[in-house]
Amino acid sequence: MMEIENLEEYQLIKASMDELVASMEESSKMKKMLLHVCSSGGKSIRPIILLLCTEICGGERNKSVNAALAIELIHSASLIHDDVLDDGIIRRGVESAHKKYGVPAAILCGDFLISKAISLISSYGTDSVLEFGRAGMYMAEGETIDISSSCTDFGRKNYFECISKKTASLFAASAAIGAYVAGADRETAMKFRSFGENVGNAYQIVDDLLEYLNRLEDKQSTYESVTLPLLYRRSMGHEEAVSLTVKEVLQHVKNAKDVLQGFGDSAAKDKLLLITNLITVDMLPASVLEMS
Ligand code: FPP
Ligand code: MG
Repeated sequence: MMEIENLEEYQLIKASMDELVASMEESSKMKKMLLHVCSSGGKSIRPIILLLCTEICGGERNKSVNAALAIELIHSASLIHDDVLDDGIIRRGVESAHKKYGVPAAILCGDFLISKAISLISSYGTDSVLEFGRAGMYMAEGETIDISSSCTDFGRKNYFECISKKTASLFAASAAIGAYVAGADRETAMKFRSFGENVGNAYQIVDDLLEYLNRLEDKQSTYESVTLPLLYRRSMGHEEAVSLTVKEVLQHVKNAKDVLQGFGDSAAKDKLLLITNLITVDMLPASVLEMS
């Protein structure tokens, strides 16, 4: 089975991330925090998607590396800030930044990452910069919806608006920027955005389902959001709630793959299809998939 860590695209992101951290002053506290945050086993899914979309569109992946790094940095910033908001204790198997360094330092570490991400994306074209800014705004908006999800009238529509903004928006921007860097036109970039949006939604629903089933061991938070399986469970039995949630995952995965069908065969497309499965359906135990 393909391991994400063995992909050339993963290695490229990792090398440029290591270079960025290494370039910082040895004694700085920021460097220490970045080492903790950026070396703690993230899979770099979003930047890999960006590089693969560039390749599918016939572009050179080396030209996309800084954009991919910008995506990874803003993602890391959002996780640091998310852990402050929902009092996350463990992230990627290690202590969360705010637990280790305190809330003020963790917020500043996020601010540093966002600023570095902006400087990296700024050398790309307007379309890419706009996609990037749009995703950042959506992430903050989606997270705002998330922190009020415990109110009584939070329903399915609110859930999808929430995950589409807080999670899928960055997948969507990654895919669209990947296409733009390769010189794709707007129509093509919007197809990739739709691919990313569907993968991102499927990814978040899986994450929420695994949390509902109590299977996420490398993460632990104090505040729990209201999620799709929990919403379904309000009006039906456990098995039916799981089954309907899995169906939503499968539908979004299908939508994503349908978008890619419109593009010619390539090694990059094969990798993207594999990753689509790896981060969604492959995360679910067979016994759960069978329930759909
Ligand atoms: C994880 O959700 C969090 C996100 C997907 C987005 C967080 C976004 C922000 C904090 C807004 C900040 C915006 C920018 C641009 C930096 P989760 O809590 O459901 O997942 P988890 O289980 O991994 O914590
Ligand atoms: Mg969280």
